[in-house]
Amino acid sequence: MVTSSLRTTTVLMMMAQVVLAAAATTSMPGLASFTVPAAFPTSVFSSYYVKPGPTQEPQPALYDPILNKTFGLGVTDPLNIPTHDTDPVHYPKAFAELSDASAEAVIAAAKAEILDILKAGHPGLTSNCSKCVAALSVGQIAAKLAPTYLPDAMVSLCKETAFASNSTCQAQYEAGSFGATWTQILSHAEVTGLDGQFICAALGSYCPLPNKTDTFTAVFPKPKPAQAKKPQRSNKMVKVLHLSDLHLDARYEVGSEGNCTSSMCCRHPAPRPGSDGDGGGAAAVPIQVPAPLYGYYKCDSPYYLALAALQSIGPLTGTSPENPAAFALYTGDLVAHDPQNQRSRDYVEDIELSVWHMLKSYIGGPVYSALGNHDTNPDNLDVPHGIDDNGSLGQQLSWNYDHVSSLWNYYGWLDNATAAEAATHYAAYSVVPPMSDGGLRIITLNTDLYYKNNHFAWLHAADPDFSGMFTFLIQELQKAEDAGQRAWIVGHVLSGWDGSNPMPNGSDLLYQIIERYSPHVVANVFFGHTHEDQAFVYYAHNGTGGRTAETAIASAWVGPSLTPLTNLNSGYRLYEVDTGTWDIHEAYTFYADVDSFQDLDPAAQAGPVFQLEYSTREAYGAQAGSGPEEGWPADAPLNGTFWHRVTEAMERNRTLVEVINGFQGKSSVRSPNCTSDACAEAKICYMRSGSAPMGRLCPQGFGSVQSPYTGKNF
Ligand SMILES: *[C@@H]1O[C@H](CO)[C@@H](O)[C@H](O)[C@H]1NC(C)=O
Ligand SMILES: *[C@@H]1O[C@H](CO)[C@@H](O)[C@H](O)[C@H]1NC(C)=O
Ligand SMILES: *[C@@H]1O[C@H](CO)[C@@H](O)[C@H](O)[C@H]1NC(C)=O
Ligand SMILES: *[C@@H]1O[C@H](CO)[C@@H](O)[C@H](O)[C@H]1NC(C)=O
Ligand SMILES: *[C@@H]1O[C@H](CO)[C@@H](O)[C@H](O)[C@H]1NC(C)=O
Ligand SMILES: *[C@@H]1O[C@H](CO)[C@@H](O)[C@H](O)[C@H]1NC(C)=O
Ligand SMILES: *[C@@H]1O[C@H](CO)[C@@H](O)[C@H](O)[C@H]1NC(C)=O
Ligand SMILES: *[C@@H]1O[C@H](CO)[C@@H](O)[C@H](O)[C@H]1NC(C)=O
Ligand SMILES: *[C@@H]1O[C@H](CO)[C@@H](O)[C@H](O)[C@H]1NC(C)=O
Ligand SMILES: *[C@@H]1O[C@H](CO)[C@@H](O)[C@H](O)[C@H]1NC(C)=O
Ligand SMILES: *[C@@H]1O[C@H](CO)[C@@H](O)[C@H](O)[C@H]1NC(C)=O
Ligand SMILES: *[C@@H]1O[C@H](CO)[C@@H](O)[C@H](O)[C@H]1NC(C)=O
Repeated sequence: MVTSSLRTTTVLMMMAQVVLAAAATTSMPGLASFTVPAAFPTSVFSSYYVKPGPTQEPQPALYDPILNKTFGLGVTDPLNIPTHDTDPVHYPKAFAELSDASAEAVIAAAKAEILDILKAGHPGLTSNCSKCVAALSVGQIAAKLAPTYLPDAMVSLCKETAFASNSTCQAQYEAGSFGATWTQILSHAEVTGLDGQFICAALGSYCPLPNKTDTFTAVFPKPKPAQAKKPQRSNKMVKVLHLSDLHLDARYEVGSEGNCTSSMCCRHPAPRPGSDGDGGGAAAVPIQVPAPLYGYYKCDSPYYLALAALQSIGPLTGTSPENPAAFALYTGDLVAHDPQNQRSRDYVEDIELSVWHMLKSYIGGPVYSALGNHDTNPDNLDVPHGIDDNGSLGQQLSWNYDHVSSLWNYYGWLDNATAAEAATHYAAYSVVPPMSDGGLRIITLNTDLYYKNNHFAWLHAADPDFSGMFTFLIQELQKAEDAGQRAWIVGHVLSGWDGSNPMPNGSDLLYQIIERYSPHVVANVFFGHTHEDQAFVYYAHNGTGGRTAETAIASAWVGPSLTPLTNLNSGYRLYEVDTGTWDIHEAYTFYADVDSFQDLDPAAQAGPVFQLEYSTREAYGAQAGSGPEEGWPADAPLNGTFWHRVTEAMERNRTLVEVINGFQGKSSVRSPNCTSDACAEAKICYMRSGSAPMGRLCPQGFGSVQSPYTGKNF
């Protein structure tokens, strides 16, 4: 009897656990955690140069249907990484047809004059800024007269003045790296004006970084409607994936140094100067952290990690080929952080193809994507068409826009007309997803055009829309307003947070545009780039009427990265979205603990575990009401007002700040803590800053969790 009743109790308890577990999962879109199978899903690629193995990343042989070619092993071979790019380079048109001898004389004279300018104690040029501008002015004459000679001259000047190490001088300024594009910049910049100030600030803080003083005012086709109404809720929810910053490292070498001192880590050691063989010099130094099969904190994503994450998406988000997400967003950066001298068009195209192919295989699509600053070559560069009135310089990156837009069309994500628009529009486009029944317009941007590290963004600095990107955005948002659509804006480089990434005028202009079309049109804004899980709010009247729950009009979601670089876990997100308002009602963030990857390799019984990190509503909703005792209403969307309320809760509750700080790095064991008042104040300020000028007014030094905070504890 006793035994039998005990058994009954045990069975009842077990049943209760099952029921409880089921109850706990009803609010979740899929499994709470998923252990990726150890075996590499080889069928994802049809052919391999090198097969995947327990100690080896694969080298797929990728056939590009757009370019009609199969990329050779050499493009991504980890053992033979090229150090020179032999792609065609573009120079500005020379102002005069000089003979070689005259061109050499011009260059020699320019070099001598620049060396004189840089000399200590130059009379008349006392500040570093005036010296830098004077040197640029001389460089400009040389660039206009003898453009093809300039890269070599820059390399030798760089070495002679010890501006950088000799190898860095070569790697930065040779023609195939940034030399030819620097020649274009010098030739076209207004060197004695604002452009020159930005260039000298970027070259090494020779001039102070120009701040926003005057406003560049956006012009709109129509005034903001007084009684604008947004569409009604449908109460039908769909799933939307948000992936970002995979940074596929197809040159990752398992077992190489993961904890190297200068990037890229997890790469085959480069031969050291003076050693005779490949890696001969490096062999003497024992490896501290052998690069794990699935990735490491100081490295970009190897194939094993990319495919582990993709395999986990279905089970964790409750999606499958039969029951797919409505669509996915990819907020940029497919390619790894290779130094420029290791990059080439082939390399960029190979990775673009590979990533889109893997996404097509695992999530189907459509995938709506913004290009990242690394999805181009040379790195970071995108060129306004107006640089030479849409001539050959303005078109120098059309090979890339043609390639990605054709692939998006090939995979069935963009129709012919939209793909054609992307091809001529810096890979940016506006699309009404067919499943949205005309209710949603997604507008993607090429945010390199306002990125501070895009050399071409320094040209015509006083006109932040020299590229026409913002005019395009206004046109498309106006179409949405006229049609009663909601709009989602998808970019890579974020407009706000601590203000460290975009050009000030560009991000201020984007803010004005978002403000004009919010809240009735702009439902959400999405970015990537920082690799971190962040969100921030836009306010009416540029926040001048106070940044409050009443003035909040829109918000941006910054997608967590798939790459662990640097010191982060790997993650991605799922939104649940109402198909009437296109507001987000729930967001689930998933991650894998990269710290565990080192222990996975030897046994290889199973791959990494991807799991639910948090639900945004569950984590913050109870505290995001209009007062300490209130919660955010269960039927209200996670919109700008919600995110403002979260910042108010952070003011009241330092524990919540700690929680958000932990999520910023995807629960990485390496994230710094945010326990000081100074850190909490800074975070709140970043979350209320949608533009660089606003973000720069916040206390600095608490923006990123990738390294210890440098902000002062005041
Ligand atoms: C693709 O390239 C092959 C040779 O590599 C050529 O025979 C074939 O005609 C090309 N196909 C197209 C559609 O251009
Ligand atoms: C000017 O530049 C030199 C060399 O880079 C540097 O040592 C010096 O501190 C700079 N001066 C100022 C005022 O920034
Ligand atoms: C760097 O290059 C300069 C000029 O070519 C040369 O004089 C110098 O010796 C080199 N320095 C090193 C450390 O190799
Ligand atoms: C811009 O502001 C920063 C921080 O306040 C300051 O360091 C910098 O010197 C300012 N630049 C100019 C050109 O005034
Ligand atoms: C990585 O290298 C740094 C020094 O560059 C060292 O402080 C750290 O302990 C190393 N980490 C591991 C896990 O070996
Ligand atoms: C620029 O030139 C390209 C190629 O010639 C053309 O397709 C495009 O429409 C032009 N764009 C503008 C803005 O004139
Ligand atoms: C799209 O373009 C392709 C090739 O250029 C063509 O075969 C196809 O019919 C076009 N589709 C539509 C819907 O126009
Ligand atoms: C911003 O734009 C205005 C108007 O064109 C210009 O006067 C100002 O110098 C620009 N400021 C910066 C920091 O780019
Ligand atoms: C957010 O949603 C709430 C509830 O529907 C609404 O009151 C508020 O105005 C919305 N905020 C924005 C910025 O759309
Ligand atoms: C403060 O935030 C933490 C973490 O979100 C939460 O557990 C706690 O209940 C909050 N405290 C109050 C008083 O709301
Ligand atoms: C942050 O705080 C936690 C809990 O107090 C602690 O375990 C962790 O080591 C701290 N991390 C850092 C980087 O200080
Ligand atoms: C918005 O506010 C920032 C920060 O105060 C300021 O620099 C910027 O000029 C303002 N923009 C407009 C359009 O008023």
